[in-house]
Amino acid sequence: MSPDLSVTWLGQTMQSPLYNASGVMCRSEDELDAVRGSAAGAVITKSCTRLPREGNPEPRYASTSLGSINSMGLPNAGFRYYLDYARRYDYAGGKPLFVSVAGLCLDDNLTMLRVLAEAVLPCFPEVNLSCPNVPGKPQLGYDIAGMAEALEAISEAYPRPFGVKLPPYFDPVHFAEVAAVLNRFERLAFVTCINSIGNGLVIDVDAEAVVIKPKAGLGGLGGDYVLPTALANVREFARLMPAKQVVGCGGVKSGREAFMHILAGARAVQVGTCLYEEGVGAFARIEAELRALMQEKGYASLDEFRGKLKTL
Ligand code: SIN
Repeated sequence: MSPDLSVTWLGQTMQSPLYNASGVMCRSEDELDAVRGSAAGAVITKSCTRLPREGNPEPRYASTSLGSINSMGLPNAGFRYYLDYARRYDYAGGKPLFVSVAGLCLDDNLTMLRVLAEAVLPCFPEVNLSCPNVPGKPQLGYDIAGMAEALEAISEAYPRPFGVKLPPYFDPVHFAEVAAVLNRFERLAFVTCINSIGNGLVIDVDAEAVVIKPKAGLGGLGGDYVLPTALANVREFARLMPAKQVVGCGGVKSGREAFMHILAGARAVQVGTCLYEEGVGAFARIEAELRALMQEKGYASLDEFRGKLKTL
């Protein structure tokens, strides 16, 4: 029998653990519908601000042999656009909808979350605490006290389950400190690990130049560059926050990386750079590869290996 890729969490069942990472194929209704119509198990919107934004000047994305660098700067159609999409969304279709919000200040996040709460929709907010690409706005996820204050206010503003998208952390002390903060918030149901590794610099040797325009070339890294860091964050937060769900994001381009994220403890897995490069056909391909790998290993369901990474 073919292995079962379904996953039940947040009271919903996804037929596949895979969906798009916020930022990829999710800015317009057409893109969101393309993800919904693909083999993805869920859909997430582009991180939105209260008002529409053009984002940073182009070129702001470049692919490299090891992945990608981007400094998009939150180009998006504005919260109302994604709220309207969420109002019209076919929830009965069995693909949960996540609405990513990335207010430029806490008040903007609270305003958007209050409106979302009043709309009483069966979607789930993912609050982006980790965009590295807005000049002058540091990633809140690196300010642990500031993040705790924000989560107090967010928990009051949004009375139902929500998630946060975290930046990558690189030190066990920081994993523990962040987890201790996040564990205090009961309605914080999931954390997405990780956003891009912020402010890398890719250099084109021939041109002796950077490859993207914003921030003099600094941008968030995705793809192969980030896989081990993403897996470390997934494993550590899954271990330190057993009452929360971890969504893995970073470096998934085949069934093998999807398997690694789940083995490290991920409940669901987002696809970013690979989806950008390949389009929505990536979901069916990665799922087929994941099924084949599970079959080879004798696993019938994701539960049989999730979080069971061995140590030496
Ligand atoms: C962007 O729009 O700059 C990417 C969003 C993010 O990395 O959070």
